[in-house]
Amino acid sequence: MSSSGEAELLHTFKGIPFTTRSSPELLKSLDTFDAREDDVLLVSYPKSGTHWLAGVIAKLYNTQVTITSPIEFGDISQLEELNKLSSKRIIPTHLDYNMLPPNFKNKKCKMIYISRNPKDTAVSMFHYYRDNPNLPTVDTWTAFFDMFLKGNVVCGSWFDHFLSWEEHEDEKNILFLFYEDMKKDLPKVVKEIALFLSLNVSDNDIQDICRKSSFSEMKNDTEKENSDPTHTVCALTSNRKLIFRKGAVGDWKNYFTPKQNIRFQEIFNEKMKLSKM
Ligand code: A3P
Repeated sequence: MSSSGEAELLHTFKGIPFTTRSSPELLKSLDTFDAREDDVLLVSYPKSGTHWLAGVIAKLYNTQVTITSPIEFGDISQLEELNKLSSKRIIPTHLDYNMLPPNFKNKKCKMIYISRNPKDTAVSMFHYYRDNPNLPTVDTWTAFFDMFLKGNVVCGSWFDHFLSWEEHEDEKNILFLFYEDMKKDLPKVVKEIALFLSLNVSDNDIQDICRKSSFSEMKNDTEKENSDPTHTVCALTSNRKLIFRKGAVGDWKNYFTPKQNIRFQEIFNEKMKLSKM
């Protein structure tokens, strides 16, 4: 996978690979993080549509809210920065449920988990690995495919991440969303999010939000740098231009060989046998 020297880009905490953009001290301190009752968590495995969802949520509020940097991003000072914020906090994270600061759970903060077909997630992550200098070099799709299935990638196994959250999907403070549903009927999902967040939004506003949250609009915004180019909701990059690649459902078909598809399906069936997915 990586050439020597690149090993420094990743480190492992509680068995999960993180980039060095998440310091071990910060990760160790997460357990003591002081959540607020009105915090909203935006949770995902990388490359599941986090920025899309964040874009929608930012437009839903007409009061002052701050989409913070991911809670696991930075050094120990990150927690203090978050503490200092006076506005309502929308906090992104790629943490698995077990690593989430317990305070968010005890205070029953609202959490939105977005998931995506893991085959498309794998392909999206492959490109992200190739383009992102914060991640180790990966030479071929075949090599990356193996790494992904073994969970030998940043944020660990897709299966473990999804299952850790799915176990809690019936809790009233957790909303489960799928990228594919957003592609199919964005207004419906936006209404669902508004209801979950107890926000009153007119049908006209919903149409407007959906228009401004299309792939092309969001990509253009980034290219025109209307939005802060250094603010991403992903702990793996500060470059928004790396985020908007293709925005499609089913791109995996352009990468998976028939053999890889069978292997993926076998592992999926085994790992997900207790899942409702
Ligand atoms: P692709 O690499 O398949 O294009 P994340 O924000 O979690 O890092 O996810 C990034 C993925 O979401 C990328 O997938 C990106 O193109 C896609 N994406 C971002 N904004 C989108 C939008 N408005 N509509 C559809 N897909 C979007």
